[in-house]
Amino acid sequence: MSDLRNSGLRVTDLRVEYTGGQLALGRVNLTIPEHGIYTIIGPSGCGKSTLLRAIAGLIKTYQGEILFNEKSVHSQETLIGLVPQSYGLLPWKTVQSNILMAMRISHPDRTLRQAQEQQIQYWLESMGISDLVDRYPMSLSGGQQQRVAIARAFAILPTMMLLDEPFSALDAFTRETIQQIFLDNWLTHPTTTLFVTHDVEEAILLGEKIIVMPSNQEESLEVVDNPIFHMKHEDKRNSDEFFQQTKRIRKVMHKKW
Ligand SMILES: Nc1ncnc2c1ncn2[C@@H]1O[C@H](COP(=O)(O)OP(=O)(O)O)[C@@H](O)[C@H]1O
Ligand SMILES: [Mg+2]
Repeated sequence: MSDLRNSGLRVTDLRVEYTGGQLALGRVNLTIPEHGIYTIIGPSGCGKSTLLRAIAGLIKTYQGEILFNEKSVHSQETLIGLVPQSYGLLPWKTVQSNILMAMRISHPDRTLRQAQEQQIQYWLESMGISDLVDRYPMSLSGGQQQRVAIARAFAILPTMMLLDEPFSALDAFTRETIQQIFLDNWLTHPTTTLFVTHDVEEAILLGEKIIVMPSNQEESLEVVDNPIFHMKHEDKRNSDEFFQQTKRIRKVMHKKW
């Protein structure tokens, strides 16, 4: 058992340079407790995707340390569910095959096909899309593809979930619906989650804390408490507290950007 105080994600002095010396992240320090959900907001180009890619192990060369429960995040024990902005679904596979493949890769030992199909049905239902099981991604709307990508991330039962502006391509109405479905799903399966967005309202709706990234990579990020997160979903958006929090976050953004 890990020490509770150190459980969860711990990023220490993370610095990423791309080949050619392009500085993508300066000196990032952040922690997310196990089963916590934090949102990250920052201007375009400040390094949000780079941060997720480094945590997910897609960027191998960086300075600093990324730990989950005090072990390297890239150890066998940490399974990461990444939801990229572009959905990341394979067009030549059905919805079911897309999810099945992710489950097989992440849990090679679990081979009972029937049990896996039941699991897939469960996750599709939880996202409200069980009727899409045999469809191909290209025949789905952006919102439907996004739901499949999220169902797939939950279905592998990850240790940690990383989402990179997953709802940014959706219209406002679809977006609100999916935000709520995602949050309901997370509340029943609270995986440690880091959610990148460039939308202030989304950051407030979905994050227990909100991390504001600076536009200048050499500056430190700021973590803002977010009591709104614990309000009832339907009360959040129209409350005075929500409005006040929006103003507060915007103030921090103006300081950092
Ligand atoms: N593959 C790459 N090679 C070189 N520079 C990159 C690469 N990917 C991103 N960058 C640069 O790193 C910085 C951070 O990019 P990124 O993490 O994509 O930011 P964000 O997701 O916040 O928009 C930007 O200046 C970007 O131009
Ligand atoms: Mg990005």
